[in-house]
Amino acid sequence: QPAKKLLVLPGDGIGPEVMREVGRIITWLEEKRGLSFEITEDLVGGASLAEYGEPIRDEVIEKARAADAVLFGSVGDPRWNHVGFEKRPELAILKLRQELALFANLRPAKVFDALVDASTLKPDVVRGLDIMIVRETVGGIYFGNPRGIETLPDGSKRGINTEVYTTSEIERVARVAFDLARKRSGRVCSVEKCNVMESGLLWKEVVTDLHAREYQDVELSHMLADNCAMQLVRNPRQFDVIVTGNLFGDLLSDLASMLTGSLGMLPSATLGAPGANGKTPALYEPIHGSAPDIAGQGIANPIAQILSFAMLLRYSFDLQEEGQLIEDAVSNVLASGLRTADIMSEGMARVGTSVMGEAIVRELDKFQK
Ligand code: NAD
Ligand code: IPM
Ligand code: MN
Repeated sequence: QPAKKLLVLPGDGIGPEVMREVGRIITWLEEKRGLSFEITEDLVGGASLAEYGEPIRDEVIEKARAADAVLFGSVGDPRWNHVGFEKRPELAILKLRQELALFANLRPAKVFDALVDASTLKPDVVRGLDIMIVRETVGGIYFGNPRGIETLPDGSKRGINTEVYTTSEIERVARVAFDLARKRSGRVCSVEKCNVMESGLLWKEVVTDLHAREYQDVELSHMLADNCAMQLVRNPRQFDVIVTGNLFGDLLSDLASMLTGSLGMLPSATLGAPGANGKTPALYEPIHGSAPDIAGQGIANPIAQILSFAMLLRYSFDLQEEGQLIEDAVSNVLASGLRTADIMSEGMARVGTSVMGEAIVRELDKFQK
């Protein structure tokens, strides 16, 4: 088998700390499962700004295009809090999504049995939860025009962003959600604010039409985004697949992460459309950021990054068995009582990033006799 080409972009803050733990797992897969990866690593975000004066180089975008898959850490660095958008670390991820047309961001919120008590919600509300948020990632208010900050005649200013969605942008992401639902429990909830926004009204119409034309076997419901936020806390298990725009998807997935115990638990996969060569461009990243408040302390939870790598194995390389091994290893380590600070509860053993990573590799060893 040809080596699988991986571009690894650890980024800033806790990004490199949690990425190191994925490194152990890659080594394990090579040594114990005979897989081979051709890995290229590069700088993005604040790390790239410091070295090259820009958040991501064109060269890195080209490397991402050429790779079979991209594993991304997180970007964001307080040193660049006061610079223009074209110089912010966050531009690295926004540009990668845009340039590779990675329009469908899959954010699964699954509650591990061992972590039922780690959620701030009652165990009975979250036990067994398994939902998938499909967030559109190259359109909406993140990228619509006009945008900018204008100075008005009286010297005061006006900040402008515009929510824009086209029929085709809505249809392609809805298709991803319907296809996923067919492999899950067959339900899609489409979320917008059609009561106040034209882009939301069009969203609802397009999803409804597509459903009627091609997906009548899937159960479709619609919900206003504010209600959805409330319902996710009230009774999250009513949902299977949620499909929504860029901004609402960003908010709702951070909210959903807390149902699983921590933001440090939620992985994601961002997929584009299959190219002429049959390859689907794909980037994998935790939904959390660079966590400057805990960076450098060795206490970040590496599980979201590790589970993002498991998604990479499943989606980009069809290595279902290896993906499962990693998810089972995580589950067993949590069952054994090890906890990073963010998921700590009474009676459990508190560990740092690398002890958690090592424990997951030791658990993998037990499967590989
Ligand atoms: P954040 O996700 O970095 O952190 C929010 C809170 O969650 C913090 O208290 C943090 O300590 C905690 N947390 C996050 N990940 C954790 C983990 N793995 N283990 C334990 N605790 C964890 O969000 P923020 O503080 O709002 O943003 C910080 C920076 O990250 C900003 O610059 C932001 O733009 C950026 N960001 C980047 C990405 C990305 O690269 N995809 C995602 C979100 C935020
Ligand atoms: C995420 C992040 C990004 C987003 C930022 C860093 C641009 O919050 O991946 O969820 O808003 O999409
Ligand atoms: Mn976010």
